[in-house]
Amino acid sequence: MKVQFKIMRQKSNKTPHLQTYNLDVESNATILDCLNRIKWEKDGTLAFRKNCRNTICGSCSMRINGRSALACKENVGSELEKFGHSGKEKLPTMTIAPLKNLPVVKDLVVDMALFWKKLEAIEPYVRLKANSIFEREFLQTPKERLRLNQTSSYIMCGVCYSECNALTVNPDFVGPHALAKTQRMIVDSQDTETETRLET
Ligand code: FES
Repeated sequence: MKVQFKIMRQKSNKTPHLQTYNLDVESNATILDCLNRIKWEKDGTLAFRKNCRNTICGSCSMRINGRSALACKENVGSELEKFGHSGKEKLPTMTIAPLKNLPVVKDLVVDMALFWKKLEAIEPYVRLKANSIFEREFLQTPKERLRLNQTSSYIMCGVCYSECNALTVNPDFVGPHALAKTQRMIVDSQDTETETRLET
C-alpha cells in the first residue's frame, strides 16, 4: 500500500518543517523499517537513531502520529487502524516528529544529555551503608526479587520524558525516568539508602 510519511525535519536551533515522502509498504512493516527505506532509497540526509531493532535498546524513540513510542515496535497496519485516514490527505498519512522536552540535534535525533544528567543525579545503582559490606552473596527471596520486575524492565528510551507535561511546565523537574529508577532502588532489599533517596 502507498503511505505518505510527514517527517519533521530540523537542524539545531532552526525552525522545523515537515517533509513528505511517499512509500510503498507492507502493513506489517515497522515505522523503523519505513524510516530506513526513506533514508536508503530517497533521502540519505534524514537523521534518526536506531540500534537493536527489537524494542530493547530504546534508541528509536520518537513521536509517531502525535504520541511518543518506539519506531521498531509500532507498525504501519496498527498505526493506520488506530489513527485511520484523515480524509484530508489523498494517501494514508503518518506523522513522525522528534521527542518533546529535549532539544533537537537534527531531524529525529534529540540531545539526551539532560535526560542522563537527571538520571545520574539520583545515583541509579544499589547503595550499601559503609558498614554493611556482606561477606557472602546477598540472597533475595523470590518475593523480594519480584518487587523489581516492573521497574527493572524500563529501557530508558525517553518516551515517558517526552510525554511528561510536568517537565514541559517546569524543565527543572527531575523527570519520570529518574523517579521510576528511584522507585526501583527503594524496593530493592539490597539497597540501604531508602531514607536518603526519599529525602533527596
Ligand atoms: S532500535 Fe532498539 S528499541 Fe528500537
